[in-house]
Amino acid sequence: MTSSLHNLSGRYPKEAELRDGTPAVFVAFTADDREDMLEFTRSLDEEVLLFLREDITSPATVDAWLAEITTGDTFTIIARAEDKIVGYCSLHTEPARWTRPARWTRHIGEIRINVHADFRGTGMGGLLAAEIRQVAPALGVTKLSAQMTVDQEGARVVFERLGFRYQATLEGWVIDREGNERDLVIMSCDL
Ligand SMILES: CC(C)(COP(=O)(O)OP(=O)(O)OC[C@H]1O[C@@H](n2cnc3c(N)ncnc32)[C@H](O)[C@@H]1OP(=O)(O)O)[C@@H](O)C(=O)NCCC(=O)NCCS
Repeated sequence: MTSSLHNLSGRYPKEAELRDGTPAVFVAFTADDREDMLEFTRSLDEEVLLFLREDITSPATVDAWLAEITTGDTFTIIARAEDKIVGYCSLHTEPARWTRPARWTRHIGEIRINVHADFRGTGMGGLLAAEIRQVAPALGVTKLSAQMTVDQEGARVVFERLGFRYQATLEGWVIDREGNERDLVIMSCDL
């Protein structure tokens, strides 16, 4: 893990305010938040659960996520409001890039984001994504990517506002929990 990543710890907790004035706080996700994260992921609506890249409602997946945070391959900010987690945004980088730095996509960090249905349209997604974009250089990446299904339009809006541009559509690239295929859209942004 680089020292610049360690330096991020001083940035949190960070206060934020939603469009309607509701206070929120951003913190870096750690093992202390494991149970709250599981409570959050299990409260996500069906449409979101249908298209999860990984089953983050499973304790094993959340543990693997926390392990990536420990190695520095992933950095996640969680948003707390009204005393619970209401969203998160992660930056995922190449696994083990600290020890095997020659991988050809080592300059890319992928953003993944989720906001609870009750908090969408509040500005929360935009704030979280902007926060991750701001800290991304400290994680050693120079290009950001985001992947979403064609119908995740809120995500497209949030990333376009941050300066992301459309890159590609991969047909039938995503298969949901029920076995139905959907197209995957890739957006990116140079830092
Ligand atoms: C993407 C997501 C994080 C955005 O969170 P959010 O808190 O709603 O974000 P914001 O409030 O900052 O902005 C969303 C904007 O998209 C707009 N939007 C939402 N759905 C839309 C649609 N179908 N068509 C057009 N605009 C849409 C909202 O109106 C809002 O615009 P506004 O600021 O003018 O009101 C949230 O929708 C979410 O968790 N979605 C499910 C997970 C997902 O799609 N993740 C992306 C994969 S990385």
